[in-house]
Amino acid sequence: LRRSFSQIHPTPQRPSFGIAFDIDGVILRGQTPIGGSPQALKRLYHDNGTLRIPFLFLTNGGGIPESKRAVELSSLLGVQILPLQVVQGASPFKGLANRFENELVIAIGKGEPAAVMSEYGFKKVLSIDEYASYFEDIDPLSQFKCWVTRQANEKNTSREAQLRYNVYSERVKGAFVVSDPIDWGRDIQVLCDVLRCEGLPGKDIGHQQPPLYFAADDLEYQAAFPSERLGMGAFRIALESIFNSIHSSPLKFTSFGKPNPSVFKNAEAILSQIFSNVYQDQETEDGVKGHQFDTIYMIGDNPAVDINGASKAGHPWFSILTRTGVFRGKDNHAKHPADLVVDTVEEAIDYILKKEL
Ligand code: G3P
Ligand code: MG
Repeated sequence: LRRSFSQIHPTPQRPSFGIAFDIDGVILRGQTPIGGSPQALKRLYHDNGTLRIPFLFLTNGGGIPESKRAVELSSLLGVQILPLQVVQGASPFKGLANRFENELVIAIGKGEPAAVMSEYGFKKVLSIDEYASYFEDIDPLSQFKCWVTRQANEKNTSREAQLRYNVYSERVKGAFVVSDPIDWGRDIQVLCDVLRCEGLPGKDIGHQQPPLYFAADDLEYQAAFPSERLGMGAFRIALESIFNSIHSSPLKFTSFGKPNPSVFKNAEAILSQIFSNVYQDQETEDGVKGHQFDTIYMIGDNPAVDINGASKAGHPWFSILTRTGVFRGKDNHAKHPADLVVDTVEEAIDYILKKEL
């Protein structure tokens, strides 16, 4: 006989709260767990490893599909993370796939940006690496780079033989910065070409700039190095400043990611979906799909991004700022004060569980 969830887990009652975790500077620094994150997360599961408290990761980072990131996080943190629990900066690009249905787009950033876009439903997508490799001499500095570029690597193979789309006649209709760009100089050069020449590098300068999207706009973020590292927002400033100096009309672009309120609205909807997955065997008074949380905790390290975003999102968000990343202050942050400041994510979970259970 199928036992109901409540029989298996008589306590606690359905929680009226959910949690969103920032990753870099809260859960990890580089690939290393920080702030007692594995122990803290373990408390959100039952002894048998099933999820007890609805939570997700809300990161501005990315570069690999959510399904892969879920596997990677599961192994780093020792709990089972589902793809649904991973929301990355680029995740909202999914909503643009129909708009670019049969159009060529380029994907920029570390990891597998083109694979991410394909998983989101984009049909004709090339990474900027592959795209640039089809244009001889597009990067005059490539021969001086001490790492192996795709172009240098494939010098002996005919470019036409490798060509998947005719990039010499087919215009790029959109550029998507999926994750932190690696080769800033080359990427800025190629993006300026694509954006100034209406999607055909080396051809006439035009006025119809193809749309440009950024997954996030973090100026700095916390990685493994002791002080903050330049993020996608810094790359955006560099590109924008150069583009505006060489082109007659200013760069047009759209940035996603925290602190946009839409990211928090979307996270709320996903948490409610996670809630209904966890409590599927229980009857709900408010209907499984539209579960209303009394409180959703945002645990972040970046005041301008995580805390600012949660404050702008308003009810039911409650912001908790840790001291393990971008923020190191003794007191609260002056410009973007959090509802609570703690040292680590472990302390944050301790506070939440004491208050809620
Ligand atoms: O590149 C990652 C960075 O921009 C921020 O990641 O997890 O702190 O939102 P996170
Ligand atoms: Mg962070």
